[in-house]
Formats: sequence, structure tokens, C-alpha cells
Amino acid sequence: MRVLMPVTVADARMATPRVRVLTLRHARRDRLPPFQGGAHTLLTLPDGTKRAYSIASDPAREEAWDIAVLREGHGSSILHELPVGSRLYATHPQAGFGAAAGAARHVMVAGGIGLTPFLSMLPPLIRAGADATLHLCAREEGSAPLVAETRVLLGERLVTWFGDARRRLDLAALLAGHEPGTHAYCCGPQRMLEAFRAATAHWPDEAIHTETFLGLAPERATSGEAFSVRLARSGVTLDVPANRSLLDVLREAGVAPEASCEGGACGTCTVPVLAGRVVHRDLCLSGPKRARMMTTCVSRGEGELILDL
Ligand code: FES
Repeated sequence: MRVLMPVTVADARMATPRVRVLTLRHARRDRLPPFQGGAHTLLTLPDGTKRAYSIASDPAREEAWDIAVLREGHGSSILHELPVGSRLYATHPQAGFGAAAGAARHVMVAGGIGLTPFLSMLPPLIRAGADATLHLCAREEGSAPLVAETRVLLGERLVTWFGDARRRLDLAALLAGHEPGTHAYCCGPQRMLEAFRAATAHWPDEAIHTETFLGLAPERATSGEAFSVRLARSGVTLDVPANRSLLDVLREAGVAPEASCEGGACGTCTVPVLAGRVVHRDLCLSGPKRARMMTTCVSRGEGELILDL
């Protein structure tokens, strides 16, 4: 069960023409719950729409969180127009994407608004003296939010790749060799994630960390062929109609996993699959994980799946 807390929009500013940064404070307390860099929160907007956002501020700042909202659809336009002082509801921070403890070196790659989780991951790493480099890619410098703040934080360890400066990051070259203890991270649009996964195909699975800022649209989560799932622990079979998600059906049966983004982006709703053919639609599971797991919010099956539930 997810705990929702009331938060107030304490401040807002446009970081680029399409990105609005909102500062959120707890509506009744002086502090927000603690979180680890890279965590996100699921916001419930005034019309009931839910949207997941990375917390884009230093975890040491306990009294407020920043989120950066790219205007790209219904939920984000509500957040772009929301006046300061408005009330929202936020989940406690959900971990999922974060710096690997004990890593010797962190190589981070962000695409545009995909910079945001790194803004909460980096300050603790910098304070700890970690070896961390961030490669930021965007079509043009003016379209990438919070670049100046990131430069202050990282200095020369921020490497920018802006299309309008004719600089293009060669991921295959950057990630050609893997040194033990090095971890690589990527947050950005799907095409960038695919290129990153291809460039790190020879890396150990545990050294690769990905997150997308863009979950799938809700209609993609609830459309497709009907299929069924057998729950191995109880022997119960559930039918998933063409117009519903597996997550919905599991919720109705009282056996649903926790969920967060509900758009295939965070991996919170993942369950183990024992048999059957999965139609993976998520943006978060790596190849080896896909062989034995599935997200329930967007992925579907063909025929019957057997789940370890
Ligand atoms: S809830 Fe985020 S991937 Fe399913």
C-alpha cells in the first residue's frame, strides 16, 4: 500500500522554454522523507492523473524537493500551469535507480531531461570524493535544463554533447572497455537507452543501470491481445482481457506487486515468470532480467503465462 503525503508547490521557475522546475514542500511538516539519490516520487495531480518524477535535488536538503517537468503531454501541461501554493499528493520516495555502493568509478550518460535523477545522485557522490563523470546530450544547449547548476556541481566532470555545437557522443567508444568496479548509468529517451544497452552488451549485468524519464502512455498499458496467467503458488488462473493491464487484474485478485510509474519505466511492479511467452513493453528491464521477469503494468503475455506468485 502506497502512502500519499500532501505537498505544496512552494516555488516554480522555467529552466528552459519547455521545462518547469517545481519546488515541493510537505504541506504539514518541516521535512520531507529521506531518500537516496536517483529516487522518484509518483505525484497525483489535481485531476487524479498520476505522473512519476525523479527527485532532482540534493538528498541532504530535507525541507524541499525539486522536480523538473518537461512539457510533453496531459499531466505535464497541468504541472506547467499549476500556480505556486497548489496542493498535490506525492508518494514516499521510490528507489530503483541509484548509485552502486562501493563502485570505484561511475560513468553517467543523460539525455536532455534525463539529467534529473543524476542531480540527486551526484551530490552525495561528490561529497564522498567518488570518481564520477556525467555525459549530457541534448539537441541544443538551450533545450537541456539545469546545465549551469550541474556545471557548478561537477566542473570538468560534466561533459556536454550538444547537437548545435556539432558534438555527438559515441557511446560505443565511451563504453568499449569495462574496468572492474566501473558502473555505467543512462537516463534518457528510449533510443538512447537502446544505444547504451548495445554499447554495454559485454558489461556485467550488475554494472549497468538504466532509467527512462518517459513511461509508456496509459493506453499502451491497457491494449493488446487477451491472455491468461496461472499463479503457481495458489494454482489460480486469471484472465487478462485485451483492454486491461496485468497489474489491474492482479490488484483485483489481491496479489499485485507494488507499483510506481505504471508506465514501464521504473521496474517496481516486476514479477518472476516461470513459463510462457512474455511480450515485453517496458523500458527498464535488461536482457538477462527479461528472461525471467516481467513488468506487470505494461507487459503482456501470449496464451498462458505461469507466474511465481
Ligand atoms: S510500475 Fe513502473 S514499471 Fe511498472
